[in-house]
Order: sequence, then C-alpha cells, then structure tokens
Amino acid sequence: MITIRQARAGDQIAMQQCNLMNLPENYHMKYYLYHFATWPELSFVAETENGRVVGYVLAKMNDDSGAESPLDGHITSLSVMRSYRRLGLAERLMNQAQRAMVELYGSKCVSLHVRVSNKAAFSLYKNTLKFDVDHTEKKYYADGEDAYAMKKNLEGLYPAEMDSLDF
Ligand SMILES: CC(C)(COP(=O)(O)OP(=O)(O)OC[C@H]1O[C@@H](n2cnc3c(N)ncnc32)[C@H](O)[C@@H]1OP(=O)(O)O)[C@@H](O)C(=O)NCCC(=O)NCCS
Repeated sequence: MITIRQARAGDQIAMQQCNLMNLPENYHMKYYLYHFATWPELSFVAETENGRVVGYVLAKMNDDSGAESPLDGHITSLSVMRSYRRLGLAERLMNQAQRAMVELYGSKCVSLHVRVSNKAAFSLYKNTLKFDVDHTEKKYYADGEDAYAMKKNLEGLYPAEMDSLDF
C-alpha cells in the first residue's frame, strides 16, 4: 500500500532524488527547505510500506511580487517514480496539496507550468484534475521549450462540512 503524507524536512533528499530521476528542472536543497519552512502543510510525498518515497508534490502559495492574488496556490514540482506510475499517485498528491491550499490558506485558485511536450502531465492536469490553459509562456524553460501556464479554480471545492458527512 502506498500512503500519501505531508512532506517534512527529512524527506528532502528522497524528494530531490525523485526529482533528479524524472525531471530536467532541478532545485537546490535550500529551495525545498524554503517550501517546508514557509508552507509546511502544502507539500506531500507518496511513501511505500517500507518507507521509500516514490513520488512527491512540492507546492507553495504565490509569493511573486506583483502577483494578482496572494491567495493563489502554486505547484512548483510533481514527480512519481517510473515503476509507480498509473496508480493514481499523482492525482492523490495533487488533491492533497489543493485541499491544503483551500483549507489552510483560503486559496481560490491554483496555478502551474507544464512543458508543451509533456503529454502525460498535460493529460493529468487537463483531463483528470480539470486545469485550464491560461496562456502559453514562450521559452519558459532553460532549454527554450514553451510552457503552458495552467490554472484551476478552487472555489467550492473541498468544503469543510463534507469531512463530517458519512457516505
Ligand atoms: C506526470 C506524472 C506525475 C503522472 O504521475 P502518475 O502517478 O502516473 O499519474 P496518475 O496515475 O495519477 O494518472 C492520473 C491520470 O493522468 C493521466 N496520465 C497519467 N500518465 C499519463 C500518460 N503517460 N499518458 C497519458 N495520460 C496520462 C491519465 O488520465 C491518468 O488516469 P488513468 O491512469 O486512469 O488513465 C508522471 O508521469 C511523472 O512523474 N512524470 C515525470 C515528471 C513530470 O513530468 N512531472 C510533471 C511536471 S509538470
């Protein structure tokens, strides 16, 4: 069984490993620590029964200067190890991060960037998680590839009273 739990500072090496294996966008340790220290509730890992981290979502609130709304959440990075894909882990990780953004920060919107060539991630965001393409950012990535800037309205999702209902 794979458990989704909140990420903590001790996970940063495993998360970085998962990032290095699967994505060309890599980060210094201090960038992970910055996320944990500033928004400790927003990042999650997928962990096997014997404690191996096989996926993560690194998330934050929008702190860009001039950001339209400080209440917007942002997905910095998402990755699942190859042999654990198509099990619904990315969807579960994303839902946990989105829920925390709403419940703890009152977030109304979540944004992210995805490479225009990344068909798997685009399908996850567009078809499964119902993000929309807001615009295309030309040469967003260091290698010159364009990004889709995607957004999802979180209003009305994850209402607190639903937690207490017994289905
Ligand atoms: C993109 C990624 C995170 C998806 O992780 P995952 O755990 O396999 O995704 P899920 O199992 O939650 O998939 C949910 C849905 O997303 C879509 N999806 C996921 N992988 C897909 C693929 N390879 N092709 C097409 N659709 C895909 C499907 O609709 C899927 O639902 P289904 O399995 O019922 O058809 C994973 O492939 C990955 O880590 N890729 C490398 C890193 C990366 O690209 N990160 C995103 C950067 S923006």
